[in-house]
Amino acid sequence: LRPIHRLLSCPRTVAAEIKREEQSSGSVETGSEGRTPKKTFSEVQKERREQAQRTVLIHCPNKISVKKFLKYLSQHGPINNHFFYESFGLYAVVEFCQKESVTSLQNGTRTPSMGTEAAIPFRSRVFNLKTKNPSNPTSEQSRVQCSIHAPPSSKKLLELLCYAESIDDQLNTLLKELQLTEENTKLRYLTCSLIEDIAAAYFLDCTVRPFGSSVNSFGKLGCDLDMFLDLDEIGKFSANKTSGNFLMEFQVKNVPSERMATQKILSVIGECLDHFGPGCVGVQKILNARCPLVRFSHQASGFQCDLTTNNRIALKSSELLYIYGALDSRVRALVFSIRCWARAHSLTSSIPGSWITNFSLTMMVIFFLQRRSPPILPTLDSLKTLADAEDKCVIEGHNCTFVRDLNKIKPSGNTETLELLLKEFFEYFGNFAFNKNSINIRQGREQNKPESSPLHIQNPFETSLNISKNVSQSQLQKFVELARESAWILNQEDKDRPSSSRSQPWGLAALLLPSVVNSASLAKRVRKKPASERIKSLLESIKSSGPENATSTNGK
Ligand code: CTP
Ligand code: MG
Repeated sequence: LRPIHRLLSCPRTVAAEIKREEQSSGSVETGSEGRTPKKTFSEVQKERREQAQRTVLIHCPNKISVKKFLKYLSQHGPINNHFFYESFGLYAVVEFCQKESVTSLQNGTRTPSMGTEAAIPFRSRVFNLKTKNPSNPTSEQSRVQCSIHAPPSSKKLLELLCYAESIDDQLNTLLKELQLTEENTKLRYLTCSLIEDIAAAYFLDCTVRPFGSSVNSFGKLGCDLDMFLDLDEIGKFSANKTSGNFLMEFQVKNVPSERMATQKILSVIGECLDHFGPGCVGVQKILNARCPLVRFSHQASGFQCDLTTNNRIALKSSELLYIYGALDSRVRALVFSIRCWARAHSLTSSIPGSWITNFSLTMMVIFFLQRRSPPILPTLDSLKTLADAEDKCVIEGHNCTFVRDLNKIKPSGNTETLELLLKEFFEYFGNFAFNKNSINIRQGREQNKPESSPLHIQNPFETSLNISKNVSQSQLQKFVELARESAWILNQEDKDRPSSSRSQPWGLAALLLPSVVNSASLAKRVRKKPASERIKSLLESIKSSGPENATSTNGK
């Protein structure tokens, strides 16, 4: 826990602060507490998935007696866990101890009779709770305490960073404030499980798995929910039951290519979500993309969802990032800060385009940490060397083998501080030969660029692909200039800052303020001033332009 004086001096209430601490400390995916033995990625996924299948989502009246509500529900069986949150009204997530309780609740639930509209019946696990006597509230009905699912505002975050004791403390604070909470993670797995119910109406035995930042330990509160519709298990279990001379196969429809099969499957699921999915709105079928997907908003959870299928390699790269995130407590702290910095300067965006992505930034941090001496992170090739027979994995001809048991990987002997690493990161990429070199986490060293894209980051498994092919020269240039300026600010602070006068944004907080780099003349003018004055004027400018601009809440 943080020192109490810091909690008290913060504008946030102590209760909210402690709640947030509790939420994050319980997370299976939290990797900031050092190297305690960790569960493998598939163990976490399996556990979370099973939890989600015993869980329901209930839209409640705004005021409710929690005690009576839980008592009412426990007639279907014991409850393991519950929490409330707000998203278009008050919602409760209720996890029963047994799956049968969900069926019992569904059996006692009716389909609403509409007035002029007609209901499309669907026995989902999303319910509406009605009170029989809404005009006569009892004294026990009160506002319930809700868990937080949005990141703190930029203003609050800057304030918290200013109260930190060191730059290392700032990076860890930022991580704690922005990382997914235990409740938010539960809600993500539950949402996948609810979508699975809809997909299973056609593809019985399918699985919908979360991937990307929801599970790779680099997710920020508010980030999108990437889902993978896994159809590979369908029909597999019967394969070993064959005996004698016969072999049974399902008669199926064939299409000319794997890609077309993916498009057809996603198209029909998109229709289902649009027409029958409770709370699934704004469904867009983006089927001509390199990786076809269905994008929609899940109103009850508030998540923006991207559903793909036939995307097993992306799940494997999520597992790889999960391992990198868990190996050393500095990794996530640095990645979160770099991502936040990039968002604050509009280097990343929620709109697709020629911007750098969070995924690319994460790869750059991993690569940088592989280049330290001694290395903080192992190369992917060395993780492959540590793999045993059970880890072997080849997907569509691509070798995706690496060791999955974290305990088999030797911790790094590198003891560099986060402050140093942050500064060195900016210096490293501020001077990187992007014009001729490619970033490659498989080998952990620069390689000649195989093609002419401004930024080349090799996809770790599909090695002929560049994950940052979309990035334009001007966006890369902006990244380089900002990196140089940030390195300069940190170096300058070392010289100028008396550690006692920290009333103005300093360290990481100063890096999140709007940049002056885009205006060369302004940059020159500003650089003549002492750093403290410059930061003061930057703070004034952020105040007048609205502090909410510094970071976004949509997680991209
Ligand atoms: N992915 C990939 N190649 C890309 C883009 C994405 O392999 N060029 C995979 C990665 O596994 C990535 C996942 O798809 O983690 C989801 O992509 P995206 O949502 O863009 O990135 P996230 O890592 O989820 O980060 P964010 O928080 O920005 O959503
Ligand atoms: Mg994502």
